[in-house]
Amino acid sequence: MKQICALLIAILLAACARSQTGAGDDWTNPGGDQGKTHFSRLDDINSENVTRLGFAWELRLDTTRGMEATPVVIDGVMVTSGVAGRVYALNAATGEEHWRFEPEIDPRVHRGTCCDMVNRGVAVKDGRVFVGALDGVLYALDLRTGRVLWRVDTIVDRNRAYSITGAPEVAGDVVIIGNGGAEFDVRGYVTAYDVRTGRERWRFYTVPRDPAQGPQESPDLEAALETWDPESRWDIGGGGTAWDTIHYDPEFNAVYVGVGNGGPYHVARRSPSGGENLYLCSIVALDPRTGRVKWHYQETPGDSWDYTATQPMVLTRLDINGESTPVLLHAPKNGFLYVIDRRNGRVIAANALVYMNWASGVDLATGRPNLTPETSNYALRPQIVFPTAAGARNWHPMAFSPETGLLYASVLDMGNLLFMSPGAKPHRVRALNNDAAIVFAGDILDVLPSLPPPVRAAVEASPELARVRNRPASQELRAIDPLTGRTVWSVPRAAWQDRAGVLATAGDLVFQGDLMGRLNAYDARDGRRLHTIETGTSILAAPMTYRVDGVQYVAVMAGWGGGGWSYVPRQSAAYERGNQNRILAFRLDGGATPVPDPLPPLEPAPAPPPQLAGTTPARIERGRDLFFGNCGICHSNQARSLLPDLRRMQRPTHDLFQEIVREGLYEANGMPGWSDLLSREDVDAIHAFLIEEQRRTRARELDLQRRGQPLDPPRATITSSN
Ligand code: HEC
Repeated sequence: MKQICALLIAILLAACARSQTGAGDDWTNPGGDQGKTHFSRLDDINSENVTRLGFAWELRLDTTRGMEATPVVIDGVMVTSGVAGRVYALNAATGEEHWRFEPEIDPRVHRGTCCDMVNRGVAVKDGRVFVGALDGVLYALDLRTGRVLWRVDTIVDRNRAYSITGAPEVAGDVVIIGNGGAEFDVRGYVTAYDVRTGRERWRFYTVPRDPAQGPQESPDLEAALETWDPESRWDIGGGGTAWDTIHYDPEFNAVYVGVGNGGPYHVARRSPSGGENLYLCSIVALDPRTGRVKWHYQETPGDSWDYTATQPMVLTRLDINGESTPVLLHAPKNGFLYVIDRRNGRVIAANALVYMNWASGVDLATGRPNLTPETSNYALRPQIVFPTAAGARNWHPMAFSPETGLLYASVLDMGNLLFMSPGAKPHRVRALNNDAAIVFAGDILDVLPSLPPPVRAAVEASPELARVRNRPASQELRAIDPLTGRTVWSVPRAAWQDRAGVLATAGDLVFQGDLMGRLNAYDARDGRRLHTIETGTSILAAPMTYRVDGVQYVAVMAGWGGGGWSYVPRQSAAYERGNQNRILAFRLDGGATPVPDPLPPLEPAPAPPPQLAGTTPARIERGRDLFFGNCGICHSNQARSLLPDLRRMQRPTHDLFQEIVREGLYEANGMPGWSDLLSREDVDAIHAFLIEEQRRTRARELDLQRRGQPLDPPRATITSSN
């Protein structure tokens, strides 16, 4: 009897603790609840009846350019963000639009953004909607009308490649926002503004400035300066942009900021004598009133691998040695899953989720990783480093269920070849910090013959080459025990790019979309697939759920985009059916989901005009360099990419080439003008290169057509080099 009583009390206590986590009818921020667990207590839709889940409504969005946000729903109103910081407010039960906000942005800003023009969500508080636009302007909008209440330019230096793609975070009476740009030439920071007026309260720089400029802005930065070479490349900024997670914790009155990678990538180029380079790749706990550091934990000291710590965090409590312990769960790019004590930043557990060769583990006494430079320092020789710069995990939100005690996350087990690139490419926009060339694992064998001989020799001698040959990459949805990192169940994915955000619910369900445009529901306990809805639109963003008038809905923003956006994966719905973005909502006993039509088959490239007068092989070569240095970040020249394939230009486009490229004729459609950076002759050189490409493409495709073979390449490879 005593035992039964104890058991009952335990169950009641557990139920009590449970009711405090997770979202209810409302989903109040992109993470769902205060802990951003991406977990819902709703269970009207559950493992018993999820097969009845069907289409409720859709909103077609005004773009083909990529969705990463998780919507917010409060009192039956859905608010969410799209490309460049557009905001949509709609009736969450019907999809009917209340209002739409489109920030006015100079398209030239997009010349300095690495990874598309996505936005990861809004913050909503006390009748105000906060959104960061791509150009770095933070807006406060009226929740009822969408009217601008205030706007503030958050960018400290407009000559550098700052942008915003992350969601703002409200902490008491301030709203906090960071920025992106560490691939280029920026010094990262976050700024707090008064929620009512937009007045600046404080700013926290994540890395020190050139000591020659005088004292640092705070004692926290004076301390950080000790971990940098005084001769560091201060001119490039140092990096450390907080481009995604900023997380307020009212329990400990702290704001946890995930800090990004260093710039330039390799520490030897950034801070020649080495050093940890605080606060790169760290979680920094700030006091929301002052912006001062309460504690910090550096996950990747002396980063050289683009191991950002910006990935989403989950705040919860775990039972550790019989004590309910307030923890922060974090699985950043570097491959570890950390359990961190929120009271003091102490690392409780750090387990590798994937194969890695930059570190052999974390010393829990000091919190420091055991670095393994012999297999990861690519300043010594080209190295195949695990995990990849694309991240064992990235921005795609994970979910934590207090019911199962499991973390659900997409995990990528893949490496990449890294080597010091011989010199800066003629990228004219910014000093793109392209000291490192990156080749993703699946592409290494393909590009091997074309690599510079010393790089090729190093790759062929690498003991990791066999691993790449056997299994270039594995992408999985995993259920993970947070304290041990153990995989409880997993579902393999078709392509490494097939990673997406996750939702877990008290209905014993885990939801995740995929690249092929399917929304899948799994049993949270064993990973069994219970239901699939074919939407025909690629899904990367996290699904979410809410209840209006007693009806539970599951919603997701659909559309391919983000890092690597300019190459559309061959297997994707975006490749097959185009990429009209949509917000999709589902309910029990809903209808059939409208699926976009397949794109028409590819036609051979049209005949190009004659080559420009006076063109020499040297001009074409220069045009190639200028193209990859300036245009390649957006134009992949892949037939099915989201932008026009410039090997398939029609005659009128050729005729207008100078006007389009230099004068910005299509600026309204997002094609920036280049007259400030490229001369007439530069643009002619690019044009000459493209005419040559079009001529070759047409010849190849006519030949394929004659032989009755498909024109599409068998697979879209994603090779990035920056
Ligand atoms: C920041 C992204 C971005 C960059 C960088 C960029 N473009 Fe574009 N470009 C676009 C977009 C978006 C469009 C589509 C505009 C539209 O739909 O009308 C476009 C369209 C074009 C077109 C018209 C093609 C057609 O068939 O209609 C040309 C030509 C072009 N770009 C050339 C260039 C060149 C040359 C460069 C490098 C100097 C460049 N672009 C760099 C985004 C970019």
